[in-house]
Amino acid sequence: MDVENKNKKDYKRDFSVFSNFYDEYKKPLIYLDTAASSLTPDCVVSKMNQYYTRYRSNIDRSDFVLSCKATEEYEKSRDLVSGFVGAQRTEVFFTSGATDASNKLMDMWVDFLRLKKGDTIAVSVLEHHAVIVPIMEKLSKLGIIVLYIKINLNYKIDLNSYKNILEQKPKLVFLQHASNITGTVQDIKNLTALAHEYGSYLVCDGSQAVGHIQVNVKDLDVDSYFWSSHKMCGPVGVGAVYIPENIIANLNPSVYGGGIVTKVNEAEVEYREDIKRFEPGTQNIAGVIGFGASVEYLENIGLVEVEYNIKNLNHYLVKQLSLVPSVTLYAELNGTNTGIVSFAIEGLHAHDITYLLGVSGIALRGGYHCSEPFVREISKVPLVRASLYFYNTFEDIDIFIKRLKEISLRLA
Ligand code: ALA
Repeated sequence: MDVENKNKKDYKRDFSVFSNFYDEYKKPLIYLDTAASSLTPDCVVSKMNQYYTRYRSNIDRSDFVLSCKATEEYEKSRDLVSGFVGAQRTEVFFTSGATDASNKLMDMWVDFLRLKKGDTIAVSVLEHHAVIVPIMEKLSKLGIIVLYIKINLNYKIDLNSYKNILEQKPKLVFLQHASNITGTVQDIKNLTALAHEYGSYLVCDGSQAVGHIQVNVKDLDVDSYFWSSHKMCGPVGVGAVYIPENIIANLNPSVYGGGIVTKVNEAEVEYREDIKRFEPGTQNIAGVIGFGASVEYLENIGLVEVEYNIKNLNHYLVKQLSLVPSVTLYAELNGTNTGIVSFAIEGLHAHDITYLLGVSGIALRGGYHCSEPFVREISKVPLVRASLYFYNTFEDIDIFIKRLKEISLRLA
């Protein structure tokens, strides 16, 4: 390992899970599964605990001091989370996660565009099940035709295929920003501009991008953007959706309830016109507050530092993995990689590898990674995936590779 490639700071100290794991299992935790869910630093956990122990109450509805404090902290998170992606606070609403967000957006856009039997929408084979499955269940059942955009050998959207599909006038395009299999980042700015040129709207899944690369939704010019908190040091069970100001009033809520209305009588309901029309009922208040704290935590580190660490670690991981006998890598090797490398070792099943690594305290995911169409397109077998974040170290990679080589020799 080169001296200049050493991490500058020991970020693991911010996460009690590392020392707790060591105390319990008497071995270090080598966490290479951030693409499934990142770890959460103690400051985020403590911010959420403060909600439960100091000002536990509902938001928006009451005037007593606890409720005012909870509302203030909740709305402060909206400032932080929206600002993190370059949006206005009036353009971001909270959900229970990215899957909830994609389901809601699908319903809202289908309603707004009055999509009906015979209309088309476009997606790529890269998409996560959080997008593909609702499309199959909701849109195919309505008779809406799903057009699949091809990818090229570098796991990027194939522009010829994209343009051919746009010529068929899909009303809506759903595309991911970054891949949970290969870490590849798509040029969403260009893909959105092309969609707009052909009169299509574009909704982007930013789940593997936000918190890993700098994202500015205004610059991307997307028509909606969604992501989750739990892949960027925040809690599970909370996500966010960005909708540009000029589109908000056109989209109707897809879930109904209290808090989103201005008037209700036995015959009619009037809805709020602002972004809160999409947050019915009592939200995950602690989760949203923790989401805001994760943004503060990442901003204190600096996204430049986060990206720098991921880039160096990823470079080292690719180099070391490529030296493992009979390995095939599936990863972005040329452009920006969000810190994800998938691989197969000839003759070994992905789950055998992840199980044997797991008992050594090395956490990776194996299988189809909720992106089965994409994995099947690029590989004949399920894949093992190593995913990195700024808190990983070169030593983590050394320990992982050493054990992987041992497993590979033992099972071969
Ligand atoms: N979307 C998560 C993953 O890729 C769960 O593993």
